[in-house]
Amino acid sequence: MTVPLPEMTSPPPRTTVPLPDFPAGFVWGVSTSAYQIEGATSQDGRGASIWDRFAHTPGTVVDGSTGDTACDHYHRYAEDVALLAGLGVDAYRFSVAWPRIQPDGTGQANSDGLAFYDRLVDSLLARGVDPVATLFHWDLPQALEDKGGWLARDTAGRFADYAALVAGRLGDRVALWLTLNEPFVHMSYGYGLGTHAPGQTRFFDAFPVAHHQLLGHGLAVAALRAATGGPVGITNNYSPVRVLGDTDADHLARAAYHALHNRLFTDPLLGRGYPEIPGADATVVHPGDLDTIAAPIDVLGVNYYNPTGVRAPSDPDSPLPFDLVPLDGYPTTSFGWPVDPEGLRELLTGLRAEYGDRLPPIQITEGGCSYDDTIDEQGRCHDPERVAYLDGHLRALHRAIVDGVDVRGYYVWSLLDNFEWAEGYTKRFGLVHVDFDTQVRTPKTSYGWYRDQIAATGTLE
Ligand code: FCB
Repeated sequence: MTVPLPEMTSPPPRTTVPLPDFPAGFVWGVSTSAYQIEGATSQDGRGASIWDRFAHTPGTVVDGSTGDTACDHYHRYAEDVALLAGLGVDAYRFSVAWPRIQPDGTGQANSDGLAFYDRLVDSLLARGVDPVATLFHWDLPQALEDKGGWLARDTAGRFADYAALVAGRLGDRVALWLTLNEPFVHMSYGYGLGTHAPGQTRFFDAFPVAHHQLLGHGLAVAALRAATGGPVGITNNYSPVRVLGDTDADHLARAAYHALHNRLFTDPLLGRGYPEIPGADATVVHPGDLDTIAAPIDVLGVNYYNPTGVRAPSDPDSPLPFDLVPLDGYPTTSFGWPVDPEGLRELLTGLRAEYGDRLPPIQITEGGCSYDDTIDEQGRCHDPERVAYLDGHLRALHRAIVDGVDVRGYYVWSLLDNFEWAEGYTKRFGLVHVDFDTQVRTPKTSYGWYRDQIAATGTLE
């Protein structure tokens, strides 16, 4: 059964100055992730993930919610693929839930789990949308966490085994493979600060999580190369660092934060080894690991949301070598994140300056914003702030391309409002509004705007 294309009821944006032309072949896309949209967390043999365990622990998610149902995408994927087709995107970036494929994180594949992604991929291709698969978007099988999670070196090998199983089934149809999503955020929130699953507070003792994720990436690249001819990459989160204050200590704080957020997961990938990270336990790095991690990749996925303000720690006993400080003078999203399109250009030209010819072609695998979007009396959802956000960031991205940075795609986070981790359902990032009581999807004004821009933008030859 083919689901009809969505009806557009939300009002068009007031001003639409067409975007400049982007390079030929530029990929227009949207992103989601499994735990944030799928629901059906105990169906068809899926095992528990660390996010099931964490979200079900009282006090972890602001509204006490879980991803048990989320957007019910597991059952409604055909409707969601119709929304993608209505947008006219070239590509859809989703993630595969490891515990659907291997409920305990090891051993044979669960055929029902693979069958779900098989159906999804085929329905995307039937609508002319390229599937882009992320293999790990933070939902580690709980059984592996019980054996140490990413603190354990063994998890890296298990990840490569899982990658091989997924690629063995989907490798003939996936247009781009991304191994990990934002390993920095997973390490720092999940194992450093404890605000995300698995909820550990190790601060800099979380360094083994960085190394084992990167090792898992390198081993998975080899497994993917063996199983498929498709391009392979990884998605990192980047944030330009703004220093408040001008003392030497402030500048050291800036360098320390830049090393942690922007370099820790990029220097070793691009063959430079690790930057200096205070307190990092280097004994976890075994001979040969850095070569495994530096296996060539075809695409560097860049996620950008906002810049970060830092200064020297005010408390000499602080476990961190910097204080994070709010940046004044920017409009903010409902998350309180500063809106700074120029930060995107700055980080892209910065990557180019820092890594030169080592830098692979880039795709912006996530960018977007949360606002308190509501449905009005006529059943419409008007989100002019999101239109302005995307318009500004795409123009900044275009300037970076004109500056010579090789950027080949942009994926809006997200197609749907969804389960926003520790913020539950209180933060809406979608181009499509979701009523979580009824599961009714309503394309927002930004959906129509993005569709029109994709249709209108020409190409730079
Ligand atoms: C990114 C995550 C994504 C989503 C957005 C808002 O850090 O990769 O899952 O939560 O933030």
